[in-house]
Amino acid sequence: MTVIRSAKQMALVARRLRAQGKAIGVVPTMGALHEGHASLIRAAAVRNDVVIVTIFVNPLQFGPSEDFARYPRPFTRDLRVARAAGAAIIFSPDAHELYPEGFQTTIDVGALARRWEGQRRSGHFRGVATVVTLLFELTQPTHAYFGQKDYQQARVIQQLVRDLHLPLTVHVLPTVREPNGLAMSSRNAYLSAQERAQAAVLYQALTLARARIRAGERRAQPLLASMRRLIRRAPQTRIDYLAIVDAVTLEPVSRLRRRMAILLAVRVGPTRLIDNLLVDVS
Ligand code: PAJ
Repeated sequence: MTVIRSAKQMALVARRLRAQGKAIGVVPTMGALHEGHASLIRAAAVRNDVVIVTIFVNPLQFGPSEDFARYPRPFTRDLRVARAAGAAIIFSPDAHELYPEGFQTTIDVGALARRWEGQRRSGHFRGVATVVTLLFELTQPTHAYFGQKDYQQARVIQQLVRDLHLPLTVHVLPTVREPNGLAMSSRNAYLSAQERAQAAVLYQALTLARARIRAGERRAQPLLASMRRLIRRAPQTRIDYLAIVDAVTLEPVSRLRRRMAILLAVRVGPTRLIDNLLVDVS
């Protein structure tokens, strides 16, 4: 496995691989790799000649009061996890490599990026879309891999790939969970044992809604109310948003039809967690 730090070097290597006709699978990450990331890397390894994992804690997607400075950066461990899952190249640039002095071009996705995370975290998706576009340009993927865990992010990236006519296929893979249902996340490291146990209500609320939908409920309001009640039973939780939305547009619905996404963001103690579930309504 090779570690590349320089943007110029990454672009050179990727272009050479593409000229040789290689399929390149790219898995963008911010490091602190867990089984969720590993599942993306393994999927990339199955159908590509070369897998590039990018590890970059992107300052552009963090708000001023967010956790950029203390975001975990266990780099040596990350190299082991990435290698074991099938990565051939790690691209881990410094911030000034991606954003040199005077940098002033950003990518803005429209309606999809405005609600939910976009509304609470101003500039977040501009940061995500910009860094992902840069990473794609430097690594030249034929296939790129994202987690359903960050469902709105995955939709934003699908849209940007389409709008910019980027010649690659985006794959969105299922959320990997802890045994208690908690979606794996690098930010779970911030949770105390007690908070971690309470965080299990997020997935319980999602599966409760799914069960009620399967039993025939088609009205969003009662579903959201029962989710809210369940989450409030855990004393250290504070709901940021709960929503039932069209899985393509992310617009909220009052009556469920077709493919729905149930989205939530909840604070558990000081830590903000997001999760979601997709449900097909016949
Ligand atoms: P990060 O949070 O490190 O996540 C990297 C990728 O792993 C994302 O596509 C995310 O959805 C996926 N992922 C995270 N937890 C997962 C889980 N439990 N199961 C499956 N996949 C999971 O998302 C980012 O980094 C950044 O915003 C990035 C796209 C790298 C741009 O900076």
